[in-house]
Amino acid sequence: MPQSRTRTVVVLAAGEGKRMKSALPKVLHPLLGRTLVGHVLAAAAPAAADRTLVVVGHGADQVAAHLGEIAPEAVPVLQAEQRGTGHAVRIAVEAISDAEGTVVVLNGDVPLLRPETVTALVEAHETAGAAATVLAAEVTDPTGLGRIVRDARGGLEQIVEERDATAEQRAIREINAGIYAFDARLLRGALGKLSTDNDQGEEYLTDVFGLLSAAGEAVAVHVAADATETLGCNDRVELAALRRLLRDRVNAGWMRAGVSILDPETTWVDVTVRLERDAVLDQNTQLRGSSVVGEGAVVGPDVTLIDTTVGAGATVLRAHAVQAEIGPQASVGPYAYLRPKSRLARKAKVGTFVETKNAAVGEGSKVPHLSYVGDATIGEQSNIGAATVFVNYDGVAKHHTTIGSHARTGADNMFVAPVTVGDGAYTAAGSVIIKDVPPGALGVARGEQRNIPGWVERRRPGTAAAEAAARAAGTGPGAGVEGEGLHVMADASERDSTSGDTALE
Ligand code: UD1
Ligand code: CA
Repeated sequence: MPQSRTRTVVVLAAGEGKRMKSALPKVLHPLLGRTLVGHVLAAAAPAAADRTLVVVGHGADQVAAHLGEIAPEAVPVLQAEQRGTGHAVRIAVEAISDAEGTVVVLNGDVPLLRPETVTALVEAHETAGAAATVLAAEVTDPTGLGRIVRDARGGLEQIVEERDATAEQRAIREINAGIYAFDARLLRGALGKLSTDNDQGEEYLTDVFGLLSAAGEAVAVHVAADATETLGCNDRVELAALRRLLRDRVNAGWMRAGVSILDPETTWVDVTVRLERDAVLDQNTQLRGSSVVGEGAVVGPDVTLIDTTVGAGATVLRAHAVQAEIGPQASVGPYAYLRPKSRLARKAKVGTFVETKNAAVGEGSKVPHLSYVGDATIGEQSNIGAATVFVNYDGVAKHHTTIGSHARTGADNMFVAPVTVGDGAYTAAGSVIIKDVPPGALGVARGEQRNIPGWVERRRPGTAAAEAAARAAGTGPGAGVEGEGLHVMADASERDSTSGDTALE
């Protein structure tokens, strides 16, 4: 065991959080990559080598299920009725028969707490051999919080809740952050003596300090160096304020670590994201979950990455990516949507108005414009023509398309899966490819073009088009002026025009 004393962490998370006005229990609200309780558990983790209990009540099943995902070692303890923070800790302490050593108690709604602060509190407590130590902070607005009442010698006399405080006590700006370290045995004794003789008729954990102090035990105050760490969260306005504070802290940390963040106020990076040096994050960028941005990569403006990896030197511009892997020096966007299992190899390109899903784009291969690539493998150095659809769904099942290396597929192709285009193969523009194209072959699958000469002059006489046609043919006013790119198909057969005529009306 790393510590000389047993350490038990107890997180209080049974409250409803009424002012959140939410179907979701307060501690499950998300904040830059973790839930509120997830942040508190992360802050407590370095101090909690031995065991962690989480007191659950409101939404107990939901909270317990979440704990199972993020902290399977944490044991949920049910507080069926919320009769106060003291009652909650009493239930937790009763759940551990051998309580000894240090019990660290944390409110579940203090997400900005840093691990160093919890560790410092616990070490100060254990070093001093105190019975109980509370984390305090000096704040400008103490409204609603418990006040630290000190005695003449500056020691802790008691903690008073605002609603039970005298006018003089309310003027105190040193508050109880809701984070504590206790000697387990003394805590257990004091919890048994808590009364409900207060404005809310609840068992107050904070009363433990007055009881221990009155019994001649040493109680201590540990002042947090950064008061913002102790901010709680009672409604969504406060949650948004905490989110901004955490954003600024996360961004400052990355900038100091060598990442350029061009507009920190519009850049939101989850605490779980990893960035490498000389990465550049441009305006309006959100990086979420397990996303990683490699060295020198440029992400943004206007990018959201969720659980997505960006390789070194890649560029991602105005894009949305979920569970995608973007290789080194690859290029994405502007305006691209990478869905789960999109994998771009080194120097691959997914360009403008392109959507990919479960698709591997090989090294140096490009899907530059207006395409959907679903359930596909594209080899190396291939080019997919503009406006191509990988037709992966037959209405019942999804099928795979394979394009080889050094292939050149034409614009406006449909690859009707399952289908394979071999290495070095070409396909003609406008083709619906339903059969495999062997390596080196040209796949053509489209109706042959017919031109019906004179159709416009016969069928649309007197229109601007007919006049332009007449001019182009040298039979009307301005004859001889040819429009750029106008191809007259002189070899189209008259034979076809007679029958085609009517069909095209
Ligand atoms: C508590 C402190 C107050 C401190 C403030 C810091 C007490 C009596 N007061 O006040 O001094 O300044 O935190 O934020 O402790 N909870 C349970 N079961 C219960 C009651 C609460 O699990 O029966 C949990 C809540 O879910 C929450 C935490 O305990 O995570 C704090 O409860 P809350 O009601 O917010 O306490 P405050 O009145 O804010
Ligand atoms: Ca509170």
